Order: sequence, then structure tokens, then C-alpha cells
Amino acid sequence: MSADVRSFFGRPIIIGGGIAGLLTALHLAPEPVLVLSRTPLGSEASSAWAQGGLAASLGDDDNPMLHLADTLAAGAGLCDAEIATRILHAAPSAIENLSTLGVRFDRTPEGALRLGLEAAHGRRRIVHADGDGSGQEIMRALVEAVRSAPSIVMVEGVEARRLAVEDNKVTGVWASCSTSPVFLGTGRVVLATGGIGGLFHDSTNPLGSSGQGLALAARAGAVLADLEFIQFHPTALDGPARPMPLISEAVRGEGATIVDETGQRFLEYLQDAELAPRDVVARAIWTHLSNGHRVFLDGREKPGPTFARQFPTIASACRGAGIDPAQDLIPIRPAQHYHMGGVAVDRDGRTSVAGLWACGEVASTGLHGANRLASNSLTEAIVCAHWVAESVAGSPLGVRTRLTAREIRRPIHSPCALSSHAALA
Ligand code: SIN
Repeated sequence: MSADVRSFFGRPIIIGGGIAGLLTALHLAPEPVLVLSRTPLGSEASSAWAQGGLAASLGDDDNPMLHLADTLAAGAGLCDAEIATRILHAAPSAIENLSTLGVRFDRTPEGALRLGLEAAHGRRRIVHADGDGSGQEIMRALVEAVRSAPSIVMVEGVEARRLAVEDNKVTGVWASCSTSPVFLGTGRVVLATGGIGGLFHDSTNPLGSSGQGLALAARAGAVLADLEFIQFHPTALDGPARPMPLISEAVRGEGATIVDETGQRFLEYLQDAELAPRDVVARAIWTHLSNGHRVFLDGREKPGPTFARQFPTIASACRGAGIDPAQDLIPIRPAQHYHMGGVAVDRDGRTSVAGLWACGEVASTGLHGANRLASNSLTEAIVCAHWVAESVAGSPLGVRTRLTAREIRRPIHSPCALSSHAALA
């Protein structure tokens, strides 16, 4: 169906179809919203690639303050403790809410959430789905929910090119489509565009994650924060494939070790060895590689024979490279993995530009500091999507009712498939 874009005037616009964007749209229901996604839903969002799951203090031996202590320690003194406290307290119920939306998390035979361990966590607190397929499963459930939500219009294959801003207030979004640009007038825009890994040669992110949200925000005059805070994951599969397949930290959580070509566990001198914070492990591996060694993950003993069952995505990537992870060493090296910096936001996800919010990897909330604790980012996205939606819902519409001459010159009945599976209000 093609639609007259005038019918969308004033609706909040969410740019990005990953977990942060879709969940914000769902939380906004029944308010009608428009979600713009450059690619078909789920096809390129880095969310769908997430192997690690969601960190939350759900175990009997755990609580949000222990989770906070690990987050602050990993963040190298640069986390915002107040926002971290708020997010980590909200994490357990945000995960429950995802279950309610239909996400099938891994559970014990008794039905409790199965809790995994990842580096720098003092407790088992990582919730996964399908072993190492957490992102896929969450996206499956959210896409299903979005497709059946009458309040959400999904616009796929259309890219936001520029935010229109007057007097530091958002007035709309210029979007490109196959024929000509369209102007979507709104006073409320949420950036949920993900990270920047596509800018790096060695990254575990989809190539399309190239900082689009940062560019939109920068051009709109929004304050950006800590852009130099880039996380390198220690264990990407070292081979020719780009993006590089990730070997989740959860594999080390299940006992795999890191060795060099002589079989030496050269990280043993570190406190917590292979499970030291991610930046520490990545730096130690990089130093060893720079000294002429080769570095491998050894999962032959642990997880051993259960490797493929526990980590089907990783086992399949290894098989593609001719490696049987239960029998062979897996060559690894660090690769760009996550951007802790981003568009500076307050506790409700508001940026310094009125009417502009940011959520997920594109945002800099202060939770991660200089080094994100494993699996805290999906948690941040699902918790903050709720707060962003509340803030957007409580904001005045702020939309202009009259178009400028430039906007009027543009065609406003667009054949570029502003398509909707839902009835347009
Ligand atoms: C991993 O599974 O090692 C990655 C998890 C994350 O980046 O949080």
C-alpha cells in the first residue's frame, strides 16, 4: 500500500528497526507511531546478531547492587553511577516483560530462567535464548508483535537522511526513498540506529552499522559524548570472513580457555584470567599477537562435546571455516564490537535537541563508562526503551501545521512504498 505522508504528520518517528526501536514503538502503543528502517525488518539490525543475552540480577545469590559493582568496576571509573543504579534495578522486570511479549528464553527443567556467566560478572546473571541466538529470538518476538500492532506503521527500505530542526527543536525528518526525498513532519523523533562497527575493517557488527544516528544527531546540533569509547571484543573468529563471526564470552563462561600456538594459557597471570574484563583480555591478546604469537580459544574439554548444542551459531560459523570446535582449536583475535559513546541523553533518553530522543547503542546513557560489562547493552536497550516511550508520550506534539516553501516543493504523495501492514489512521 502506498500512503499520503500527510496522514503521518505529528506522529512520533522512530528511526531504526532493532530491539531498541521496536520496543519503543510497542511501549508507545496505542499512540500511532512510524518506524523507519533502512532495510527489511530484522535483516541488518545488529540486535539480531547478539549472542550474549541480557544481564540482570535474577539469581538467588544476586542483587542489583552486586550487578552495579561489577558494572562500575568494568567501566573503569567512568560510569554514571546514578543512571547505572536505575537501569540495573529495572533490569529483572524488563526481562519479564520480554517474556510476556513472547520471547522464549532458555530455562531450566524446573522452568526458571537459565543464568549464564560472562567475563567480569561475579555471578551467573546472563539470560539467553536459543543458546547463542538471543538477539535472533528477541527480534523474532518483537517483529511478530510489531507486525500485529495496529498503532505501528513500519516503513521499510526508507532511510532518514536529515533531521529538520528550528530553534533547537525537531520539526521533522527528511527521508530518502527510491524516487525522491519525502518530508515527514513531526516534533518527536527517536534515534535507535545502532552502532558504528561497519566503519571498521575488523568488526563483529553488520556492515550497515555505520553511525547513521550519530551523523543525524550531530548535524541537528545534538551533544555527542565519549565518541572514543569503542569496545573491542577479545574473541572474534580469526579468518577472512567480514564481518568477523563472534565467539561469545559465554563460551569462556562455560570453561573454554585461551592458549597460544605452544598450548600455553598466557592469560593465567591476569586476575580472573580468561574472565577478566573485556578490555583487559582484548589488550593482552593483542599484545601477544603483536609479539608474533597465534592465539586460540580451546573449547575441546569445556564445553567439549556439548559445544554445538550450547552454541549452535558459533559452531556453525566454525564449521564454515573448517573447524570443529569440539575437536579443534579456534583461531581468535580482537575486533571492534560495541560503541559505548554516542548521543548524550538524560535519564529519559532525551538529547540536547528538544523533541529528539536516543535509545540503544546510538545513545550514551553513562551506564557503560569506558568499557561495557558483557550483556549490559541489550539490558540497557530494553529498560530505556520503556522510559523513552514514556517521555515521548508525555511530550507536547510540537509539530508545525504549515510546511515551508521548500517542503511544499517536494512531492508529498510518495510512491516509495510507505507501506503498512496496519490500517493507517
Ligand atoms: C558475547 O556474547 O561475548 C557478547 C556479549 C556482549 O557483547 O554483550
